[in-house]
Amino acid sequence: MKKPTHQLLVIFGASGDLTRRKLVPALFDLFLQNLLPAKFAVLGVSRTPFSDEQFRDSMKEFLPSNEAAANFLKFLHYQPLETSRNSDYPALKTRLSQIDNELGLGGNYIFYLSTPPSLYSIIPRYLSEAGLSRSETGFRRLIVEKPFGTDLETARRLNVELLNYFDEKQIYRIDHYLGKETVQNMLVTRFANGIFEPLWNHTFIRHVEVTSAESLGVEGRGGYYDHSGALRDMVQNHLLQLVGFVAMEPPAVMEADAIRNETLKVFQALRPIRENMVENYVIRGQYTASTIKGQPVPGYRQEEGVDRHSRTETFLAMKFFIDNWRWAGVPFYIRTGKKLPARVTEVVVNFKHVPHHLFSASPGYQPVSNQLVIRIQPDEGVLLKFGMKIPGAGFNIQTVNMNFHYSELTDLHLPSAYERLLLDCMQGDATLYARGDAVEEAWRFVQPILNAWGSNPEIPIYGYPAGSWGPHEAEKLITGDQWRYPCKNLTDDGLYCEL
Ligand code: BG6
Repeated sequence: MKKPTHQLLVIFGASGDLTRRKLVPALFDLFLQNLLPAKFAVLGVSRTPFSDEQFRDSMKEFLPSNEAAANFLKFLHYQPLETSRNSDYPALKTRLSQIDNELGLGGNYIFYLSTPPSLYSIIPRYLSEAGLSRSETGFRRLIVEKPFGTDLETARRLNVELLNYFDEKQIYRIDHYLGKETVQNMLVTRFANGIFEPLWNHTFIRHVEVTSAESLGVEGRGGYYDHSGALRDMVQNHLLQLVGFVAMEPPAVMEADAIRNETLKVFQALRPIRENMVENYVIRGQYTASTIKGQPVPGYRQEEGVDRHSRTETFLAMKFFIDNWRWAGVPFYIRTGKKLPARVTEVVVNFKHVPHHLFSASPGYQPVSNQLVIRIQPDEGVLLKFGMKIPGAGFNIQTVNMNFHYSELTDLHLPSAYERLLLDCMQGDATLYARGDAVEEAWRFVQPILNAWGSNPEIPIYGYPAGSWGPHEAEKLITGDQWRYPCKNLTDDGLYCEL
């Protein structure tokens, strides 16, 4: 692969968790694969008064202690800065010019906002006022982390604010789900194979499920999560983006806007859930105290930073439709939650049964449910379930699996989402980044749900014991069928599995 051109990556919020845990390790992996630009520097920016050396030291524990890591650390620089103070930005500009001139980076800068969202409108403005948002010679790009607003109104406002200082083409909104290898594989599964796409429509598909289960709880993020909840934290962004890839029309070319136009069209076709129908289409839950493997586990309301009377949802299951030619009448089901029995994300395409039941006279006959399971994580892979004759007398049928696990590709490195996304931005490829109009459209779809919950406290929030598959009411959403209950291992799909 071609290396990106020389450039400087500026990380705002450099002393934060994301930088240590995700960004720096991802850059190190790119370094190991020789994918960083030949001339490259990272400038960490935040309030903490580090020197370059101290910043490098603070990153050491997140990297292996070997020679490669020592060489990589030389790319890192640091500039203390009060990000919310305009008068600090000339010093940043001077430092950038210094590094740029020393290394010959051609004025190519990426600004990565890994800060609290309250700074998303401030930093771009001050960068612009310092003359850093545009350049005659090099490129200027801005990476923004979620949340992109907390509802439709704030999302719109954020877009307007960002566009005051940067053009849409310069803005890269990260949704780390799009960086996952297996999410991208969805495009290949659909559009590089001749066998799936002809069946990928309302004529052959009964319904589509998307499950994103987490076994962890809020893990010290109670303060943030209690103001967010599963709808804002997982559905509005990650899961709807996934639905976008499952449901989109084939783009004409593999090019950022061609693909993003198609996901936008999917979001535009989502049938609005009217506020008075929310209760019928969206089930929300919150985990309660329980015992997992003999250990007591606190309920959500006992977590640090969470209101003792909180009505924030840690689980959500919903049903919706995409009103277009391809998907007319096909229900889509989404389910996500914390403290569920396993950490699993997958898309399950459920195909229609055969039109005529030839073997229905066989004892115990059940129509075969053909399923294509696209496993996003863990045990990444693809599984196809279909019926086979049990050898011997009669025509008894058993469902069998045909499966592929990424782990079988032993010599391949499965890049982390951040690794892929950072490299793409360095190359100027926004295909796997969310575009402003699509983000707004996804908010438009979830807004009536937020409104209904806000204005009607009668809409129940069901408790579910930590370690279970969520409230029983979620079962009833799937008409005449049941959810797939996935386990860690792609091909195990009994009703129960280990945490
Ligand atoms: C984040 C959410 O965006 O995604 C977290 O804020 C969630 O609450 C996480 O745990 C899930 O990501 P992944 O990659 O672990 O599935």
